[in-house]
Amino acid sequence: MSALANTSSEPAILGDNLVEMERVAVLKQLLHRIVSHSVVYDRVQELVGMRQVYRRIADLVGDLDQDAVVLDIGGGTGLSRAWLNLPPQYLCLDIDRDKLATFNREYGIGNAIQADGSHLPIKDGAVDLALCVNVSHHLTDDVLTSLVRETMRALKNNGRFVFVDAVWDPFRTVSKMLWHYDRGSTPHTTEAFHALFTQEAVLRSWEVLPIYHHYLIAVLARQNGGGVT
Ligand SMILES: C[S@@+](CC[C@H](N)C(=O)[O-])C[C@H]1O[C@@H](n2cnc3c(N)ncnc32)[C@H](O)[C@@H]1O
Repeated sequence: MSALANTSSEPAILGDNLVEMERVAVLKQLLHRIVSHSVVYDRVQELVGMRQVYRRIADLVGDLDQDAVVLDIGGGTGLSRAWLNLPPQYLCLDIDRDKLATFNREYGIGNAIQADGSHLPIKDGAVDLALCVNVSHHLTDDVLTSLVRETMRALKNNGRFVFVDAVWDPFRTVSKMLWHYDRGSTPHTTEAFHALFTQEAVLRSWEVLPIYHHYLIAVLARQNGGGVT
């Protein structure tokens, strides 16, 4: 008896919810398209405080030799190239062809590599400086582990890996809201990063910069790196 009453009202409620969910999905997709445009993307990065983060990255990177090889893993449209003073051998590696097309359009220097950061098409010990900025929240634990392992393989003995991303903190409301609107976000905790880095590498420095998110900025070296920073 109650089954009939329920079937007449439930589909209407379900239907309303579906329309609403579709509307939100379309809006999110639109928002992501707008944000993907490089000028808008750069502006959004400024708004969320990335200039401040990049100033700290610049301090850590310091002055590199002109022949140093820099590998930017998940480099996207090359924001690091734009915001840091880097030598000419800057390799922008990303899984997304469109991002690399934008990088090529802007820099026209043919240093774009389309690849997965967890399977780097780079020779052992070829890289002086590896960067990975705001990428790990797109990656599962397994892929992130492979990416760190691969980066260590690709680094020179005295090379450095500057790793940056916002971390998951359930007590920061604004941060939680930003994660909600971030595409494909799988933020990791500081504890998870610490465990991974100390397992796969030597942790040269570790700091957390609180802006809207808490940004982890870590410098890693090879375990057999011979103590050169
Ligand atoms: C938020 S963007 C950051 C881009 C750039 N590092 C920056 O700071 O502007 C994340 C980038 O990671 C790339 N990405 C995601 N998964 C990847 C993977 N498995 N290998 C390489 N790049 C990946 C995405 O395509 C995207 O360009």
